[in-house]
Amino acid sequence: MNKKLIVGNWKMNPTTLDEAQKIARKIKRIAPTLTSTEVVIAPPYPFMTSCGGRGIMKHFHLGSQSVSIQIDSGPFTGEVSAPMLKDIGVEYVIIGHSEQRARGESDATVSVKTKIVLDAGLVPVVCVGEISRDETGAYLDVLKEQIKNSLADIAQKFAADIVLAYEPVWAIGAPEPMKNEDIHESSIFVKKVFSDIFGPDAGIKVKILYGGSVNYRNAPDIISIGKVDGLLVGRESVNAPGFVELLKAVDNIDR
Ligand code: PGA
Repeated sequence: MNKKLIVGNWKMNPTTLDEAQKIARKIKRIAPTLTSTEVVIAPPYPFMTSCGGRGIMKHFHLGSQSVSIQIDSGPFTGEVSAPMLKDIGVEYVIIGHSEQRARGESDATVSVKTKIVLDAGLVPVVCVGEISRDETGAYLDVLKEQIKNSLADIAQKFAADIVLAYEPVWAIGAPEPMKNEDIHESSIFVKKVFSDIFGPDAGIKVKILYGGSVNYRNAPDIISIGKVDGLLVGRESVNAPGFVELLKAVDNIDR
C-alpha cells in the first residue's frame, strides 16, 4: 500500500509554548496507531524542540516551515540553517510556501533552498500553485514555469527525495478547497511537468500533496477522488481534535 503523507503547517500559531505542546502531545498520541499514514508537524521555530520527540517516534516527524539560503554558520541575523534543523531532529522542510513567495521568495531562491535541504539529507516539501485561474488555461503555463524554475538546481539523483505540494493560492485560507476532480487533474499536470524534468520513472514515483482549506470532513475525498498522495494542512493542523480526526479518516482510506 502506498503510504499517505500529512504535513501540518502551523504557520505563526499558536501563541504560547503551552498550547503548542498540548497540540503536539495529542498528535504524538495518535501517530503510532496509524497504519498507512506518516504525519509531519511544522511548528514555529521556538516550539520545535519541545514539540518534537526524543528519538524516533512511529509515523511522527518534525518539519520546518522554512530554512535559510545560507549553509555555513555566520553573520546572518534571524536565519536558521539546514544543518541546524537536522541537528534538532527535523526531517522535512517546507519550501516556497505562497505566503513566503508573497514576501519576495523567488523560484530561484526556492531552487537553491531545495538543493541545500537535499544536500543536508532532509526532505523538501516544495510548494507550487497558481495565484488565480483564467478561462484560457494560461495559468497552466505559469504553473509549469514555476515548477521548472523552482527545481532548476536539482540533480537527477535527488528526484526520488522530493515531495511536491500543489497549493492553488486562491484555495489557501479560503472557505472551500478546490474541487476534487480539479485536484486530480492538476496533480496529473504537476506529475507530468516533474517527469518532463526528471524522467517518466521519477514522475510516476513523486509524491504530490494537495493544500488549501483541508479539514477533517473534506480530507478523505480529496485523497480518494483527488487521488493525491497526501495533504498540506494549515488551519486544521492547529485544531488538535480536527487534525486527529483527519489523520484517522485518511488512514482508513486504501490507495
Ligand atoms: P489552510 O492553509 O489549510 O489554512 O488553507 C494551507 C496552507 O497554507 O498550507
